[in-house]
Amino acid sequence: MGLNLKVKLGNVELQNPVMTASGTFGYGDEFNDYIDINRLGAISVKGTTIKERQGNKIPRILETPSGMLNAIGFQNIGVDRFIKEKYPYLQTLDAKTFVNITANSIEEFGELAKKLDDLDKIGGIEVNISCPNIKEGGINMGTDPIMASKVVAEVKKNTKHHVMVKLTPNVTDIKVIAKAVEDSGADSISLINTLVGMAVDLKTRRPKIANVIAGLSGPAIKPVALRLTWEVFKTVKIPVVGMGGIENATDALEFMIVGARAIQVGTANLYNPLASIEILEGIEKYMIENNIKDINDIVGTFKVD
Ligand SMILES: Cc1cc2nc3c(=O)[nH]c(=O)nc-3n(C[C@H](O)[C@H](O)[C@H](O)COP(=O)(O)O)c2cc1C
Repeated sequence: MGLNLKVKLGNVELQNPVMTASGTFGYGDEFNDYIDINRLGAISVKGTTIKERQGNKIPRILETPSGMLNAIGFQNIGVDRFIKEKYPYLQTLDAKTFVNITANSIEEFGELAKKLDDLDKIGGIEVNISCPNIKEGGINMGTDPIMASKVVAEVKKNTKHHVMVKLTPNVTDIKVIAKAVEDSGADSISLINTLVGMAVDLKTRRPKIANVIAGLSGPAIKPVALRLTWEVFKTVKIPVVGMGGIENATDALEFMIVGARAIQVGTANLYNPLASIEILEGIEKYMIENNIKDINDIVGTFKVD
């Protein structure tokens, strides 16, 4: 039986819906010893900034019940080195590359998009808007619909590529932000980024993460991520890419049922480097067992009555 696992995110076709999430999969090559990364639908690379960054002081990761906290602080090689050192290999893959970008001002987002515009083989840009706009008094760009719209419009102005906008869960009403980014030209939405958290060391009464505040990810956040994915799916017409605690095919399929056209595997890569391929194989097995020929047929089929 021929299975169709291909999914379309706007004008970009992925060979299957399994992506890896930014910051948990490096630039892909590090995982080649464990899995054939070419089989994945897409890879979202580590958050890329204009300048190379060393990131925050350690300790900057901590295991928590069913999850982890991280405050890496966007350690990355910067956009110029990404283009020179990582793109040549990534462009040879069947798995599409999404270049996750992050910046501290609207202008810098535009600059990044422009620098990436000539990379004809990338699948798209994933815009991480969960960061403060330093120029305008530190307002978080992902929590303010006006600021989020401005970022998306600026990125769109500077690129021909597909623009996926990654939303933060740390808002009162995610529907408002989702609508704002769709209206300003986003081609797809991915969600969720990490939930803001912290941890205390009882002996020293000091924070367990040097940065004090950190992002919570992993299975602990899955119910929240599912709820937000469903809310965004019902709000926008553009494709939605779901993530948050996905560690097996069942998790991935649940996200697709509530509306995700594709899914991203994040923290699971860190404790099981085979997770993404196991999820792909698990989806295929589910399709065969349930006589589903086209994976698109399950997207958004959640029944609430
Ligand atoms: C160590 C670590 C680093 C991350 N770095 C980034 C990043 O650079 N850019 C970004 O958009 N998200 C980053 N994330 C967030 C993930 O891509 C993902 O949105 C989040 O962890 C939720 O998915 P998960 O529970 O499957 O990990 C990072 C997450 C972790 C755990």
